[in-house]
Amino acid sequence: MCGIMGYIGQQQTQEILTNGLKKLEYRGYDSVGVAIHDGESVQVTKAEGRLDNLASRLENAPLQGSIGIGHTRWATHGRPSDQNSHPHTDDNTEFAVVHNGIIENYIELKQELVAEGATFTSETDSEVIAQLLSKLYDGDMITTIQKVIEKLDGAYALGIVSEHAPGKLYAVRQASPLIIGSGDGENFISSDIPAVLEHTRDVYILEDGEMAVLTEENISLMDVTTGNPISRDLFRVDWDMEQAEKNGFDHFMLKEIFEQPKALEKTMAGRIDKETNEVDFPELAWSEEQVAKWDKVHIVACGTAYHAGLLGKSVIEELTRTPVDVEVASEFRYRNPIVTENTLVIAVSQSGETADTLAALRQSKELGAKTLSITNVVGSSISREADDVILTLAGPEIAVASTKAYTTQVLSFYLLGIYLAQKKKQITPEQNAQYMKALQHIPEQMEEILFHNDDIKNYGESIKDAKSVFFLGRGIDTAVALEGSLKLKEISYIHSEAYAAGELKHGTLALIEEGTPIISLLTQENLYDKMLGNIKEVSARGANVLGITMSGNVKVTQYVDETCFIPETYSLFTPLLSVVPLQLISYYTSLALGNDVDKPRNLAKSVTVE
Ligand code: F6R
Repeated sequence: MCGIMGYIGQQQTQEILTNGLKKLEYRGYDSVGVAIHDGESVQVTKAEGRLDNLASRLENAPLQGSIGIGHTRWATHGRPSDQNSHPHTDDNTEFAVVHNGIIENYIELKQELVAEGATFTSETDSEVIAQLLSKLYDGDMITTIQKVIEKLDGAYALGIVSEHAPGKLYAVRQASPLIIGSGDGENFISSDIPAVLEHTRDVYILEDGEMAVLTEENISLMDVTTGNPISRDLFRVDWDMEQAEKNGFDHFMLKEIFEQPKALEKTMAGRIDKETNEVDFPELAWSEEQVAKWDKVHIVACGTAYHAGLLGKSVIEELTRTPVDVEVASEFRYRNPIVTENTLVIAVSQSGETADTLAALRQSKELGAKTLSITNVVGSSISREADDVILTLAGPEIAVASTKAYTTQVLSFYLLGIYLAQKKKQITPEQNAQYMKALQHIPEQMEEILFHNDDIKNYGESIKDAKSVFFLGRGIDTAVALEGSLKLKEISYIHSEAYAAGELKHGTLALIEEGTPIISLLTQENLYDKMLGNIKEVSARGANVLGITMSGNVKVTQYVDETCFIPETYSLFTPLLSVVPLQLISYYTSLALGNDVDKPRNLAKSVTVE
């Protein structure tokens, strides 16, 4: 939610900041700005809208200097505008600040500051930080920042420059991600690794309550409260820049959809014992006794990760007969969940930074549960704070609409379900062998769908003018329908809903009219006939029905207007295949509408605020 970039060194600061911000735009893109210290004073340029608006302002009036901070915003307090863009400064522009997070007590702080004569120019919570720096400045930047931090409640990642500190760049982290890139004669701060990767692979991941002071040659980490130095090893990033680039695809989303077979293979590799062909998670090493102790599993997540969790419930319950609850993290954290030391809580999050999921995880730990995270980002807060981690090896996911992270999360649940069933001796070696064979075949089957997608493309384009699109399924297909519907609405802006098909006649049928597109999933053998009944109900009301089913199930073609076949697999594993046409449909619909596929309006990739 907002991206921060900072630089200190001898290269073109302005260019480094704007290039870095380009890579962070997925975190927010409604306004953007930079502040550069030119050796004497701090100069600020900012603009409402995308980075191009800022770039043209900077082209007309370039900023010179060797220290700078930049910010790309996703508005929380105050609408997108030039004034509300970061960096924010104090009245005399002695201090400039970029902030990601939310200052919860900003209203009280602002009232105090205004009463003392400060003039606020924005509606943001962040401006109080710049004003506080000015008010509390005591001649020493470190102690001044400490005094400011003492006054702030909430979440913040900060980048700070000041005309009082030529040659220094400051960064502070509390509950919002921030990394420090270590270069040769230059150093960086950033909300995420891809923004610094063209300059360095060596990073420090700042922890909550820590501050970093950067000069061209040095990075000092310290506890922000005590000022005590912190020593930490550099983290070496082992993935390539190309993985964070479009590589010939028109959009990150399409590239990421096509990367799924490889992402699944990578996520599987190392988790299947080559000799026994059984699932083995070396990173878990849970004993049979430990697994036997858990009488309940609770899955917490948001959005697409929550939809993966819904499948996780079906898989774990089916394979281990252990009851599983799934809940959106923003609800879980505000009730009194039944979680004990005999509960396994699984937090699912691509970014590993989603504020609600992190809070749910922390709450579960306090309640004594064993915690496991399924995350895609090494070193993220959720991966660090959970007792154990399963890393999905999807590589960086840049498009706001999640695709490859979702399928690798779903795969992780299959592997985890089988692993738990093995530990509980609830799966026979024969069944295990069949499942492993089927799972290992999925990437190839996915390729088949991806490389024969012309009909899907045409279908996606054909629904671009629809008022509403409905997704129907039964059993685990319902969870996939929910994901298909979310994908479509977030990037096409077409109203869409997903239903368990049996629910239709309890209200939703009233919305079906002549030509309403219905995307129905029929991958569950035991539910085909029930689904066909539901399809007849909507067809009789004039709906136009696309059926997604396993090849061989030709009967469906008699009942639907169009059919999309996916390769055959076990009913339990069909979500990994059936979601692919849904992802492609949403992509092509959005494209046909001329939308910004990778950066849908009002959304951001990483939701680090509540
Ligand atoms: C939708 C999407 C979001 C995220 C949600 C959770 O395509 O990407 O719904 O799934 O914001 O994000 P993570 O997984 O980072 O916790």
